[in-house]
Amino acid sequence: MQVYTTKKDLLAILKSKKNKELSLGFVPTMGALHKGHISLVQRAFNENELVVVSIFVNPTQFDNEEDLDKYPNTLKQDLDLLEKVSTNIIVFAPTKNDIYNDKIKSESYNFNGLEKVMEGTFRAGHFNGVATIVELLLKTVGPDKAYFGEKDFQQLQIIKRLVTLKDISCQIIGCPIEREPSGLAMSSRNERLSKSTRKKAGFIYETLKTAKIKFGTKSAPIVKEWVFNQFLNSSLFELEYFEITDIDTLTPIAKKQIDIKYRAFIAVYTEEVRLIDNIALN
Ligand code: PAJ
Repeated sequence: MQVYTTKKDLLAILKSKKNKELSLGFVPTMGALHKGHISLVQRAFNENELVVVSIFVNPTQFDNEEDLDKYPNTLKQDLDLLEKVSTNIIVFAPTKNDIYNDKIKSESYNFNGLEKVMEGTFRAGHFNGVATIVELLLKTVGPDKAYFGEKDFQQLQIIKRLVTLKDISCQIIGCPIEREPSGLAMSSRNERLSKSTRKKAGFIYETLKTAKIKFGTKSAPIVKEWVFNQFLNSSLFELEYFEITDIDTLTPIAKKQIDIKYRAFIAVYTEEVRLIDNIALN
């Protein structure tokens, strides 16, 4: 496994490989890898001759200092998992200084409102931080294709907008959500849940699936109210938001239209851990 910790070293090795015109796939991560991340890496590996995976806990996208402090660092374990996919993966695990040159600060972006709803409302500055690091990584790595999970669907849509806005020539590929046996969407944060709550958290996906069925015959406000009530009765799970939006603009639905694709999004707190999930509705 080749691990590079500076942009300079990564660029040197990529330059020699790119001269051979090999197709390059890229998977940005913050480490603490699980099967969700690995599904992206596997897909990148199937579709490209070379794959770069970055592991960098990006400070500028955390709106909460404690969340950043608690973020797991499991590099050795991460490398073992990646090695099972292939020993040819190029890992980029830089330091904060190498990335930000001591100026740990976000750029400011306008994503035409995509950044203002849901995660954007509840996590101030989060998407400026995500876009700052992803722009920098895409410009450094220069991949043909980059892979992002639908688990963070709003992030995926913002990155698609980012490459258009910044004229970055890279295809952005969305990959399906990997789930635990209970239905809970895989996340590094799930490790912070007690065993019993982790199992019970399948409730979140169950709620989304029932909301999807209800949306077949009922209006968005009625489905929203139903979801809201499910959480009123729960002592374990606290609902932060539930929204039904069209998938392109992410604006909450006004009136259902047949030719528009909708998705439902949810954020829930349990045991002081924030969990997000979403589901395609049609
Ligand atoms: P991270 O949370 O480590 O996620 C890295 C990638 O894995 C993201 O594209 C995310 O959507 C995807 N992913 C996470 N859980 C998944 C699951 N259960 N199924 C499928 N894909 C999943 O997202 C980030 O890091 C950061 O914001 C990053 C883009 C790296 C910028 O710092």
